[in-house]
Amino acid sequence: MIAQRKILTDEMIAQIETLASRYPTRQAVTLPALHMVHAALRQVPLEAVVEIAEVLGLAPAEVQDTLSFYQFFHQDKPHGEVRAFVCRSISCALRGGDELLEHLCHKNGVKPYGTTADGALTIEPAECLGACDFAPCILANDDLLTNMTPEAAEAELKKPRGRAT
Ligand code: FES
Repeated sequence: MIAQRKILTDEMIAQIETLASRYPTRQAVTLPALHMVHAALRQVPLEAVVEIAEVLGLAPAEVQDTLSFYQFFHQDKPHGEVRAFVCRSISCALRGGDELLEHLCHKNGVKPYGTTADGALTIEPAECLGACDFAPCILANDDLLTNMTPEAAEAELKKPRGRAT
């Protein structure tokens, strides 16, 4: 047992146990547990990796391997309150997706994958969001923004949004 958990709340541990009841092995819970913690904290710090491993009875390296396999998870710093994935796949690229990404980064003073100084917004390139008919698209937390122009995207990303689930 961990003497004292610093990151995972009792509620998070209960959620991991609920997940574990639905999966064939505790190892299979690694990815959903990472998503759950990431959604709550907007990052999965190393301490949380150790604690998830402890709860699941795995080595911390196993959990960290899963985390680092995907580019999805933020580890060192939380992503912004709004995380905007700007599609750069073919349909969106043909309709200005790259320029959209460049414009938003420039206007917000960040590089791709960067977070604004006030922590409000993270801008990340993304692959196809599955809405090619409405290119160019942005996924902002759980909201799909379609047929975006640079100006419309700028305005949309200033709006408050629910947390990503
Ligand atoms: S290429 Fe952008 S949504 Fe499919």
